[in-house]
Amino acid sequence: MSSDDAMHLRGASGAQRVELIYDGQPVTVRAGESVAAALFANGIRRLRMSPRGHGPRGMFCLMGSCQECLVMVNGRRALACQTPVRAQLCVDTIDLAEHPGRHE
Ligand code: FES
Repeated sequence: MSSDDAMHLRGASGAQRVELIYDGQPVTVRAGESVAAALFANGIRRLRMSPRGHGPRGMFCLMGSCQECLVMVNGRRALACQTPVRAQLCVDTIDLAEHPGRHE
């Protein structure tokens, strides 16, 4: 199993490929896997910028606990690791220095 295959959900192999828009750029991913895994498999590691230090943050726990993977999905805050890929998704990184909230 390649490291790329390890990032895909069981049963997602051979799944339909769809296009999502990430920070304005099209990315081809497998439908059904999480947004976090789909972006990671495409070499995208940065999902948001931290409010302190303005550093890049990426997925960590992959189970919805740490909230490191907070992104905007179709204009709403969402956890990338808990959001399944489907057609017509528009995903944007969040700069929490510009949009503070309860997530740090
Ligand atoms: S990676 Fe921890 S909540 Fe998504």
